[in-house]
Amino acid sequence: MDLAMDTAPGLPPRIDAVPDAGPTAAAPGRVRALLAGIGGYLPETVVTNDELARSIETSDAWIRERTGIAQRHLAQPHETCAFMATRAAAAALADAGTTAAEVDAILLATATPDEAFPATALRVQAALGAGGFGFDLSAACSGFVYALSMADSLIRCGQARGVLVIGSEVYSRILNWQDRNTCVLFGDGAGAVFLRAGQGTGSGADRGILSTHLHADGTLGDILYVDGAVGQPERSGHLVMQGKEVFRHAVVRLAEAVEEALAANGLDRRDVDWLVPHQANQRIIDAIRKRLDLPPERVVLTVARHANTSAASVPLALADAHARGLLRPGQLVLLEALGGGLTWGSALVRL
Ligand code: UT7
Repeated sequence: MDLAMDTAPGLPPRIDAVPDAGPTAAAPGRVRALLAGIGGYLPETVVTNDELARSIETSDAWIRERTGIAQRHLAQPHETCAFMATRAAAAALADAGTTAAEVDAILLATATPDEAFPATALRVQAALGAGGFGFDLSAACSGFVYALSMADSLIRCGQARGVLVIGSEVYSRILNWQDRNTCVLFGDGAGAVFLRAGQGTGSGADRGILSTHLHADGTLGDILYVDGAVGQPERSGHLVMQGKEVFRHAVVRLAEAVEEALAANGLDRRDVDWLVPHQANQRIIDAIRKRLDLPPERVVLTVARHANTSAASVPLALADAHARGLLRPGQLVLLEALGGGLTWGSALVRL
């Protein structure tokens, strides 16, 4: 399902109505990376908790109560990282009312690429018929926020004017389907945004990416990891997680990250129109929401339907909100994510 495409003909209003800025060097003020288009792709196959409970010792009640997850989309063999990323990216370009000709760079966040190389980003480039350059980025569930930050830098320094930022994951292929501690938590999918250079003043009232903050602590690498890769002899690897430890860090680190983002921009939590959190666990999201004192209706939630799609989780949640017509020009959106590494970070974006 292409989220942005599937909404036609009653498409929600586009959020790309900011005029082209002209040459970066000559323009006064400050270059901003504007969120011009959003798209998503979810595999057709949906697997409910009850269906999982037929093959492992778990229950719909346990999964819902501990995580908020009710179902997940799982990829069929043809739905690879590149396939889903291409569909999501095409939807984001269509949503922006543009074509691959405007793409200068493709940044693809994934831990589940099609091949060790070329970068899956370049499979997407070829499929779209885009030019420019591209690369994959590995930061687990924080991958999209990391990629968004890199894309923002590329645009602000004038190295690119149109950038596709994609998160695409097929975690179903790195899960141990006998391990109930992990396999019930994840799903597959892809989300993408198209960023376009625009003009701002440097204030928090600007449209576009206002700030990104990235963090990592490599000493915590062993609480969430995949125990193999193509560089390991005969070990492609399975995801391993100390759930409670990750949960504890997520609540603390993400609360710090959202407060850091607001403070850096001189903005207040009451200014936030939408919190678009990493969709790992409803209880983690609730903790962050309460810390920000946000009403539940200002939090975009997809965890029940998508489960944790890692680097695709935040852009898929954005695409879902967009397809439902929730996003309006001028609104302030706070994105956050935490994942293996540990990695975590935030992005504050005015639509
Ligand atoms: O995207 C990266 C970020 N990832 C996350 O943020 C995940 C963070 N962690 C979590 O979301 C939670 O820690 C989990 C959902 C993974 C686990 O929730 P919990 O409340 O921390 O449960 P627990 O690990 O303490 O397990 C409680 C019990 C255990 O049984 P005993 O030892 O108390 O008898 C588990 O064996 O629940 C058992 N259990 C299950 N039972 C039924 C674990 N998984 C399942 C399951 N079905 N699928």
